[in-house]
Amino acid sequence: MDKKTIRQAMIKQRLTLNEEEYQSYSLKIIESLLTSSFFNKEKPLGIYMTIRHEVDTLHLICNLLERGIRVALPKVERDGMRFYNIDSLDQLILGTFGVMEPPSDDLAEDLSTLIVPLVAFNEKKERIGYGKGYYDRYIEQYHPQTIGIAFEFQKQEFVGETHDQPLDYIITEKRIYK
Ligand SMILES: Nc1ncnc2c1ncn2[C@@H]1O[C@H](COP(=O)(O)OP(=O)(O)OP(=O)(O)O)[C@@H](O)[C@H]1O
Ligand SMILES: [Mg+2]
Repeated sequence: MDKKTIRQAMIKQRLTLNEEEYQSYSLKIIESLLTSSFFNKEKPLGIYMTIRHEVDTLHLICNLLERGIRVALPKVERDGMRFYNIDSLDQLILGTFGVMEPPSDDLAEDLSTLIVPLVAFNEKKERIGYGKGYYDRYIEQYHPQTIGIAFEFQKQEFVGETHDQPLDYIITEKRIYK
């Protein structure tokens, strides 16, 4: 199937997860991520704010801030996506596409790791996002270590395009793809 068809099907299917499945799978994925040793305190971790049944990152962000790990969130700007450091979730502002965005005063220039949202992924750890190429361009330009987080059913068969940047790891509620 082509990327567009899979994208539409996966966005729909993700919304059919009931609240219990959604929360328990998200929790498993976040716990698996936290027990991995992917974080360091020197550089900020890039992560997204959840919309529409993407793997829930809210508790993870709170946990990281409490542990003194620097957290940076994306903001879509005219010439692409940038990450800005935050101290607290209270600072966030409702931005484009209905996503909560950071204020643009503390640019995070060098991320240790980037937690990547995705709509679907394949065996090669290539991903399908929302179809704007923001993450592909960001990863191609800055080369952070990348960890995709997703539900197992989002694993699909498709052929990535040359501009699709494969991720380093993908963590689901079932396993870690390396
Ligand atoms: N590195 C790049 N340089 C220039 N254009 C790019 C690059 N990566 C992607 N694009 C363009 O972005 C558009 C969308 O790409 P694609 O369908 O792969 O999005 P996506 O991976 O689903 O989205 P996202 O990365 O925002 O989650 C394509 O038209 C593609 O040509
Ligand atoms: Mg892509």
